Amino acid sequence: MGSQLLATKSIDELQAQEASGNELRRALTATQLTLLGVGGVIGTGIFVLTGVAAAQNAGPALALSFIFAGIGCLFAGLCYAEFAAMIPVSGSAYSYSYATLGEGVAWFIGWNLILEYLFAVATVSVGWSGYAVSLLEQLNIHIPPALSHAPFDQDKITGHMMRTGAIINVPAILIVAAIATICYVGIKQSAAFNSVIVTIKVTVIILFIMFGISFINTANWHPFVPPNEGHFGAYGWSGVLAASGVIFFAYIGFDAISTAAQEAKNPQRDMPVGILASLVVCTILYVAVALVLTGMVSYKELNVAAPVALALDKYSGLHWLGFWVKLGAVAGMTSVMLVMTIAQARIFFAMARDGLLPKFFGKVHPRFRTPSTGTVVTGATAAIIGGLFPVGVLGHLVSIGTLAAFVTVCLGVLVLRRTRPDLPRPFRTPVPGFTCVAGAAVCGLMMLSLGAATWWRLAIWTVIGIAVYAFYGYRNSRLHRAGASASAA
Ligand code: ALA
Repeated sequence: MGSQLLATKSIDELQAQEASGNELRRALTATQLTLLGVGGVIGTGIFVLTGVAAAQNAGPALALSFIFAGIGCLFAGLCYAEFAAMIPVSGSAYSYSYATLGEGVAWFIGWNLILEYLFAVATVSVGWSGYAVSLLEQLNIHIPPALSHAPFDQDKITGHMMRTGAIINVPAILIVAAIATICYVGIKQSAAFNSVIVTIKVTVIILFIMFGISFINTANWHPFVPPNEGHFGAYGWSGVLAASGVIFFAYIGFDAISTAAQEAKNPQRDMPVGILASLVVCTILYVAVALVLTGMVSYKELNVAAPVALALDKYSGLHWLGFWVKLGAVAGMTSVMLVMTIAQARIFFAMARDGLLPKFFGKVHPRFRTPSTGTVVTGATAAIIGGLFPVGVLGHLVSIGTLAAFVTVCLGVLVLRRTRPDLPRPFRTPVPGFTCVAGAAVCGLMMLSLGAATWWRLAIWTVIGIAVYAFYGYRNSRLHRAGASASAA
């Protein structure tokens, strides 16, 4: 078993597999990939989690948390770009680690990517539901709380799950079902739909920054780093770090571009451009939003589900913008779910093709050329999770799974530079000795800041993954079967 865990798929084989019959349609340009990235990134993190992170952890220094998390993502993004350009196949970090670090690590990463994408669709659907319900309220359409909230939540003191009295989050379920249907029909339609939504949400954020700037009261920025209150994460520099772990969720998604490598028209050139451009755009917008938000309202007031809307509601001259921001937030979160659903279905596709998951996960629709079964499974599972659990419980779990994948990708680039220096690299990560190590270190620190409960949940998820691998993936892996038939011959 040990040798199989370390067995790697050759990069030539990965590329040949892409060229075989079961192909996805190559339809995406660099601009569409950048839009896909921005579409996957700006969502619940900036519209929902920003307020809690400022109020409970960082205060006005939230802007620094965004910069810290952005730096980690930039390093990881450069590593992703090197891999994505060199191995332009579907499956993202999963495929990269299969080619470099062996089947065992690939399985671990693939399993964490499922945690990232599948649970992120669910997490964002809950944030979407909150904003959509409040928008409908403004239009005098009332959804009863019992049908728009999670029936389970975590007790703030004991940490145990408890009943909330609500029945199920219906809007969260409906939006996931709608998104999955769009993804089922096709990547080209999905990208066009995504482009429109990205334009709306970026416009809304820019309007918030432009109009909010003149309402900044600089007294709200003092002290910029509020003094620590005696334990880790309660303001001070540890608060800045803890907030970066929380708002890291806001960056999740740019790596999803790499999962669409197989559908890019010119992956060697367009993948790095798409990843880096979307990351830079988002970092600038986030830092600006954090500064304007904490300048308009004291960070102590921001512990709410819709902090950006709260800041606008505070000033009568900005009420008109509140409606549009909610609309933009709803649109923004819709495109996040779209990108995540596309990404998750393709992770299933890649893992099933390798025999690590049952074959039906990798089935491509004969007419639409989309991974249709994976899309249905993603939609159904995310709808159930989103209908039952709240944002807070899901968000941290998504972040830690993603960070684990980032750390592995950073280290994977270093390993491959040593073991396969000969491979053509259309995009090379600059100063890899620094970038890869710093990327792994910054992402590792953010993982540590996420706290014991999240680590426990990650451990449980990993144990389930090991069981699935031991009872299914190990036996059915294509590498394993190829090895078995070779030794029988
Ligand atoms: N980055 C995405 C969001 O904030 C997941 O919604």
